[in-house]
Amino acid sequence: MDVKSNENPDDELVFVEEDSISEDAAAAFEKKALWKILIVDDEEDVHEITRITLKGYSFDNRGVQLLSAYSGDEVKEMLKKEHDIALILLDVVMEKDDTGLDLVEHIRKDLKNSTVRIVLRTGQPGKAPEQEVITKYDINDYKTKPEFTAQKLYTSVTACLRAYNNLKTIERNNQGLQSIIRSTAIIFKNQSFSRFASQVLIHLIELLRLDSNADISSAYLVGMPKNSIFIMSGTGRYADKIGMELGNSMPRNVVDYYLKFQKNGGETFLADEYIGVFKTREGFSSLLYLSGCADLRRTERHLLRIYANNIAIGFDNISLAREIINTQKEVILTLGEIVETRSQETANHVTRVAEACYLLANKYGMDENTTEMLRLASPMHDVGKIGVPEAILNKPGRLTDVEFEIIKHHAETGYEILRKSNRPIMQTAAIVALQHHERWDGMGYPQGLSGENIHIFGRIAAIADVFDALSHKRCYKEAWSIEKIIDYYKSESGNHFDANLVTLFLMHVDEFVSINKIFPD
Ligand code: C2E
Ligand code: SIN
Ligand code: SIN
Ligand code: SIN
Ligand code: FE
Ligand code: FE
Repeated sequence: MDVKSNENPDDELVFVEEDSISEDAAAAFEKKALWKILIVDDEEDVHEITRITLKGYSFDNRGVQLLSAYSGDEVKEMLKKEHDIALILLDVVMEKDDTGLDLVEHIRKDLKNSTVRIVLRTGQPGKAPEQEVITKYDINDYKTKPEFTAQKLYTSVTACLRAYNNLKTIERNNQGLQSIIRSTAIIFKNQSFSRFASQVLIHLIELLRLDSNADISSAYLVGMPKNSIFIMSGTGRYADKIGMELGNSMPRNVVDYYLKFQKNGGETFLADEYIGVFKTREGFSSLLYLSGCADLRRTERHLLRIYANNIAIGFDNISLAREIINTQKEVILTLGEIVETRSQETANHVTRVAEACYLLANKYGMDENTTEMLRLASPMHDVGKIGVPEAILNKPGRLTDVEFEIIKHHAETGYEILRKSNRPIMQTAAIVALQHHERWDGMGYPQGLSGENIHIFGRIAAIADVFDALSHKRCYKEAWSIEKIIDYYKSESGNHFDANLVTLFLMHVDEFVSINKIFPD
């Protein structure tokens, strides 16, 4: 079949001019992994034309690596070897009329790969009618070959890579979160300093998923700052240097940074090194060093910082239970901040929502433990926004309906991220994430729950979150006066919000306003 037969000349192949890429961009480009796209078709022509079309294509500064398979069996072989394929352009009719559809089932059900994006391309739509295929099979786009022009291929590939990237970000964050929680718990159970120190590095490398990186070296040094600090554990180049003193074992620049940061703590990311210096409450000084970590992404850098800060606290290890709670608290606040940072809002937003939830739960008469739990959990209510493209999140004006539909996913995305942990704080956070946009009258999202079917946590968080949104400037709106806010709550009592909670909120509105004063933008 001739792929290009119906093509409109205006849709001629689009090339990115290679020499238009600046040198810096080219260098950055080379370092980043390529998006892997698998072309599946039994006709060589289709492979060729796809390769020509996607030559020079890039998304998010990353180019593409095109893989080819010509039959169902070849696809299965390929999927055994390549674990990070982002997109499959899949022909339907190959050995059999439905080889492509079988492959979709194999990928989604047998391999349980729900991340790879699949675009079905068919030359014979009669054999796989669009309506039927889209509803029955978990695919991401459907195109007949004649309509699949160069421009449409570009659009489809870009949409798929963006979605894949978002899914991966969520996955990474999720793993990072789990890993932090797990390692914090293990670390705190561990009384011995040296085991503690080696687990720090093992978990750190696991957390950042650097285990497969042969160039990675790391060291964790501890001591009293007045004397010196010593390598407690090491990997790579430092594996055989345990017990050695800082000046005798580490590169000169690390020693310099240590001296610079020694007094107040501090950290730096160099080209492919991380150096962090931390002081514990007990007065110990510790240094965490990583080299060979050139392409850490922003989320991974955040995780590294959270982790590094937590191990400093961990070292004191005096009152176990208290510390675990405090550490989780910090992890939660910082993870909340990752999302806030992305949406260009101040870190104080999550703190204010947490304090307002605490205050309202308290007025409501919730028991102290549950109230404290809600305070710890509520900073994560918008963690699902990590899955929303920044262009939408930070759009200065009103959202279109389509964009708002995308934002609405943040409730369920957050729930999916948080619910996997059994810890009570996380379970609470999952409920808050899922239900903070439900409305008392049932017109909210994602589930359209109404009245007391909405968990008390969700009803409280709704009041706290909206109060914070209205009383501050957002990228898309000005701050409201307190009079206007009070009128709004009066009119939404029993509509958006639980009337009993609104009564409590209005009765004590001054206390809510003072939260804004204590934690300003
Ligand atoms: P957010 O900015 O934190 O707002 C939280 C909630 O506060 C909103 O949930 C809404 O219930 C309330 N709210 C905020 N601003 C206003 C307002 O000007 N008038 C009224 N009546 N209520 C307001 P909602 O609507 O479900 O939005 C969820 C999130 O979606 C928002 O969180 C924000 O991140 C984003 N968003 C909503 N509308 C827009 C928009 O027009 N432009 C942009 N860029 N983002 C928007
Ligand atoms: C503490 O207050 O005990 C340490 C700070 C924290 O982990 O939140
Ligand atoms: C944010 O926009 O990231 C925070 C707003 C909210 O609490 O919903
Ligand atoms: C309470 O009101 O103290 C319990 C809140 C809940 O879990 O529903
Ligand atoms: Fe939200
Ligand atoms: Fe919020």
